Amino acid sequence: MRKLFEDYDIDGSLIYRVFDNYDDLSAFLDDFDQDVVVKPVGLTGGKGVKIVGDHLKDNEEAKEYSKEVIDNAMGGFAQVIIEERALGEEFTIQAFCDGEHIAPMPAAQDHPHAFEGDVGAITGGMGSYSDTNGLLPFLSQDDYDKAVKIMEDTVKAIAKEAEPYKGILYGQFMLTADGPKVIEYNARFGDPEAMNVLPLLKTPLCEVCQAIVDGTLDKVEFENKASVCKYIVPDGYPETEHAGELIEVDEEAIEDMGAKVFYAAVSLEDDGIHLSGSRALGIVASGETIAEAEKTAEKACEYVKGNVYHRRDVGTKALVEKRVAHMKEILN
Ligand code: GLY
Repeated sequence: MRKLFEDYDIDGSLIYRVFDNYDDLSAFLDDFDQDVVVKPVGLTGGKGVKIVGDHLKDNEEAKEYSKEVIDNAMGGFAQVIIEERALGEEFTIQAFCDGEHIAPMPAAQDHPHAFEGDVGAITGGMGSYSDTNGLLPFLSQDDYDKAVKIMEDTVKAIAKEAEPYKGILYGQFMLTADGPKVIEYNARFGDPEAMNVLPLLKTPLCEVCQAIVDGTLDKVEFENKASVCKYIVPDGYPETEHAGELIEVDEEAIEDMGAKVFYAAVSLEDDGIHLSGSRALGIVASGETIAEAEKTAEKACEYVKGNVYHRRDVGTKALVEKRVAHMKEILN
């Protein structure tokens, strides 16, 4: 992706280098005066990326971790990508792509940390919210449009470079003082972000899929609402001792209050629904405001019983305001 951005002069990339030996990367980091992110070139199930200032103390620790990645050929490649660390607020834009055109979905913000207050292990995502007008409280229309343009340019570049890409493009961005920067792309929906936006889809999904096949994708319409998704996970997740346990989900009560249940890593057995060691189910509500959607989602979570946990702070006024204040600080 970084190479494609360079070759096609696409905005929103970051300074990066790829290394296959310790000496070169060590020399590079000795001269690099910003914190970095270390990414194994191979796939590591979302657990390979380490950030200086988060998982790693400083660039010296980044060197040690990079050596581990190369020596152990982590993810099947003895190579590591070193990137500048982008500072700001993360957001997601998912888009339908027909190989040439894209139809973007409303932006959403995920919460990767396991525990309230954004602490604990980085997980696949503990919950997410979206706001009216497809924006976020810290994301302006101008920044949203810039991010969409980056995605459009990417899809056009892919079509020139290889087979046109038809499907879902998941863009994970950092809104920085210098505008949106791409952290990563995935060729799939976001989890949990898809649960925020797909219930708001007004254009029939079959029509969207047919337009993707035919290469005639146009605007896709969404209800102008906010949404909040809270993931219910086994207590202690990701290091849980409750895998396999039975839980009770009162789907009727949840639906009666206008929320939705989306099952994830659970199994339905004769005696009911059993947890696995992973995220169990998403509870999603929409509303006129994030606060309204949050209230409904939080209340609906009470109807899931067992040794389970969810982040009560996802979508709350306090946490959303913290994000806005952080973005203001970055811009000043
Ligand atoms: N929400 C993170 C992901 O889908 O990759």
